[in-house]
Amino acid sequence: MLKKKPQKKAKYDKRNTLNDLTGREWLLLTKSVWISEKCANDKFAFQHPAPFLINDIKKLVRFFTKENMTVLDPFCGSGTALVASAQENRKGVGIDLSKKYCLMSRKRLQDLKLKKNQQVICGDSLKKISQIEGKIDYCVTSPPYHNILRHNGGGLRETKDKDVRNGARLGVEYYSNDKRDLGNQAQYKDFLKLLKAVMAEVYKKLRDKKYCSIIISDFTVNKKETNASGDVIRIMQDIGFGFEGMIVLVQDNKPLYPFGYPYAYKMNHHHQYILNFRKQ
Ligand SMILES: C[S@@+](CC[C@H](N)C(=O)[O-])C[C@H]1O[C@@H](n2cnc3c(N)ncnc32)[C@H](O)[C@@H]1O
Repeated sequence: MLKKKPQKKAKYDKRNTLNDLTGREWLLLTKSVWISEKCANDKFAFQHPAPFLINDIKKLVRFFTKENMTVLDPFCGSGTALVASAQENRKGVGIDLSKKYCLMSRKRLQDLKLKKNQQVICGDSLKKISQIEGKIDYCVTSPPYHNILRHNGGGLRETKDKDVRNGARLGVEYYSNDKRDLGNQAQYKDFLKLLKAVMAEVYKKLRDKKYCSIIISDFTVNKKETNASGDVIRIMQDIGFGFEGMIVLVQDNKPLYPFGYPYAYKMNHHHQYILNFRKQ
């Protein structure tokens, strides 16, 4: 009989105060390109127009925190960051302006039996972040992409299979009619101003030297391709965050639209950027 090779013990470095990863796990997560990964528990969130996928956020939470640390999502929508935090044994705080989405997050956590240590706060992040008790260890979030859901007929997509997001666009589904909603700023510069004000609150709540990830893609403003990710990097640097690089999150299974065909090049955005920052 063949002798079993003794398994190599995973190596943890005692100097690592950032996360609970072994050297190999750490290295794999430093790749600048990630392929977005679906799982069965993403299905519930497709009632929201723009949810994260749980596995993408779990990777970030594993990299940027240790067990029992606290994660904040100030635009938490369907609560994906809280689900990911709970599954990784982290505490979570999620804020959303919409009562509908707050109820959605709470139901999601309840159905998955993940309510413990997860808090959903309903209200305007601009006001609510400062009211969170204590400091946070990591922020992962995705703001509304200016007002594109109002103008692009984006949001929920028609499909025969309710579990799949692919298919023709179904019409407009935006977050709310609330003036404080970042998605309701008529001017792009006002959207950036409001995002900057919210992220400045995050900066104050975040422990020193800790990280913040913003997930966003470039999009069109008044039909013009706009480097929104670049603008977000600039406002975060103005606040005082150091920019630590971006991960390209590939979403290769989205539908393709012939936006400019047959006259001009108009791109289909099949990736998001995960912009990583650190409090100096
Ligand atoms: C891109 S979605 C986030 C989706 C979320 N990542 C998920 O997995 O479902 C942005 C969210 O920001 C919320 N929002 C917009 N303005 C806000 C504000 N001022 N304070 C708190 N939430 C806000 C919207 O209601 C929307 O749910």
